[in-house]
Amino acid sequence: MGSGIAQAAAVAGFAVVVRDVSEPALRRGEAAVRSSLDRLVAKEKLGTAARETALTRLSWTSELATLADCGLVIEAIPEDTALKRALWQELDGRCPPATIFASNTSSLSITELAAATGRPDRFIGLHFFNPVPLMPLVEVVRGLTTSAETFDAALAFVRRLGKEPIVARDRSGFIVNRLLVPYLLDAVRALEEGTGSVADIDRGMQLGCGHPMGPLMLLDLVGLDTTLSIGEILFQEYREARFAPPGLLRRMVAAGFHGRKSGRGFYDYTAEPPRPSDLTL
Ligand code: CAA
Repeated sequence: MGSGIAQAAAVAGFAVVVRDVSEPALRRGEAAVRSSLDRLVAKEKLGTAARETALTRLSWTSELATLADCGLVIEAIPEDTALKRALWQELDGRCPPATIFASNTSSLSITELAAATGRPDRFIGLHFFNPVPLMPLVEVVRGLTTSAETFDAALAFVRRLGKEPIVARDRSGFIVNRLLVPYLLDAVRALEEGTGSVADIDRGMQLGCGHPMGPLMLLDLVGLDTTLSIGEILFQEYREARFAPPGLLRRMVAAGFHGRKSGRGFYDYTAEPPRPSDLTL
């Protein structure tokens, strides 16, 4: 999601520094931005000049120190509290006090992440949706300590991106994932129980309910590993069975079927067009 957020900010006119831990990850991010911008140009949603200007606004680095001059830092690393808190602590020591910190977490507590820094009043949740360049929504999440100024600045930033903010309380999953994740997990349960095939479960929700994508294809887009982490965090908070990740999801993640990003999930993306994966259930 990091490259998608960077792209949206660059298209909106911001100078963006993208930091990742490894050079190969940076190259993948850069390629994803180029391909996404090309698709927007092909669909006539963006002009060629705007594409080129957006690309010049992006710089790519593996050095955390390069973020020291940024007015806003948005973190989109894996859903792991310890990992995120350690990163924020380090950034807190490198960025000036006025810099606003925002996490793209989809399920962890904003208040808990903010407490890892010496600026809990300038810490907020900005939760984007996949694929970021296309989805208009951003959930703006105020932690217990987020100041009114930080909240206003975050809302203004989201609007400058041309996206629509909604305001959510700091409860696990916020608004969208609290509703979406039980539905996605239930689709996996339906498959596991033999209620329908991968293709029929997806076609059912597309053709019967007008969803742009069926739940299993959406799981592949979000990432099976990411959804597993989110389900575990939601279950920890609410202790309700609907949030508990089903065994099949766990086994698919263990097998390396992480969805689109790994080439295989409920669908096999090495085939053209992608077809349902051959799974022994
Ligand atoms: N940049 C990036 N990705 C793009 C893109 C662009 N400019 N244009 C298309 N895509 C992606 C799609 O994922 C898909 O991949 P492939 O073609 O490579 O297989 C493809 O491109 C679809 O292309 P289409 O031209 O057919 O796409 P579309 O314009 O008809 O609609 C869609 C695609 C907007 C993704 C639509 O299917 C949709 O709305 N799907 C539901 C998405 C959704 O629910 N997202 C929320 C997920 S939850 C989340 O993100 C939060 C979380 O914390 C879990």
